[in-house]
Amino acid sequence: MNIIKKYYGGVVVLQLNRPKALNALNTEVMHELVDIMQELDKDSKVGCFVITGNKKAFAAGADIKEMSDKSYLQMLGEDFFAGWEAFAKIRTPKIAAVSGYALGGGCELAMMCDMIFASENAKFGQPEIKLGVIPGIGGSQRLTKIVGRIKAMDMILTGKFINANEAMQSGLVSRIFTTEELLEKAIEVATTISSYSKVSTMIAKEVVNRSEELGLQEGVLFERRMFHSLFATSDQKEGMQAFTQKRTPNFGGFNNKIN
Ligand code: CAA
Repeated sequence: MNIIKKYYGGVVVLQLNRPKALNALNTEVMHELVDIMQELDKDSKVGCFVITGNKKAFAAGADIKEMSDKSYLQMLGEDFFAGWEAFAKIRTPKIAAVSGYALGGGCELAMMCDMIFASENAKFGQPEIKLGVIPGIGGSQRLTKIVGRIKAMDMILTGKFINANEAMQSGLVSRIFTTEELLEKAIEVATTISSYSKVSTMIAKEVVNRSEELGLQEGVLFERRMFHSLFATSDQKEGMQAFTQKRTPNFGGFNNKIN
């Protein structure tokens, strides 16, 4: 079993479980993780994922041993790594809780999540250049969008690692915790997210993510139209009525009967 799945109410923690290989991401891990998440993505009771590893490694990259002898035609024919796009497309919010190494594919996995929380011992890097290759699961694109071209170029051309503080300063990480607290805090935040309407958290993700593709005017229009669309949900009525009635809202998400 490469992935350990645990429920905490509406939160599902998925722990990468190849400690001897520092959670290196092979094809089996990819399929296992993506299959679990695609199934749970449809579950209205699941409001947020937390993806994590262990203290030493979130994931030290794609599995070098699996790739090393492959030919160009094999890589092309299999469209190697393309399966990870399904991970990026998961619509339920997902938080990466990173302790230790998040390198190469591990850093890319974290960046395909919606938020990255790090423990004080976290190390991020795209060291593929040292192996005679380059990032292959979106690192050159996502890292550049997150930290900017110059910083991304520095990391990708030198392969240097950055620590949690540098990652925080660069916008790669939004919160830092002690190693002991990391998972508990990530679950706490995930629980807050899962207490909201899954309809609105999914839409919120979509509008933020579209900002990377759209110009400002188109993006603002898309946001406004999506905002309007939420008035077709009973969760909008519930959320706003609860505010005026000074009570906690009880969101139904996709379980609501009316739309
Ligand atoms: N793939 C396969 N196995 C890996 C691995 C990886 N990415 N990273 C670590 N391992 C294995 C090691 O081979 C070792 O296995 P054995 O005990 O069988 O020898 C085990 O995990 C423990 O690793 P180390 O002994 O190297 O541990 P360390 O503490 O001395 O060093 C490290 C830790 C600095 C992270 C080092 O393991 C390392 O540099 N790993 C590779 C990092 C890397 O290059 N990642 C990018 C991979 S390519 C990629 O990800 C492409 C892409 O864009 C998707």
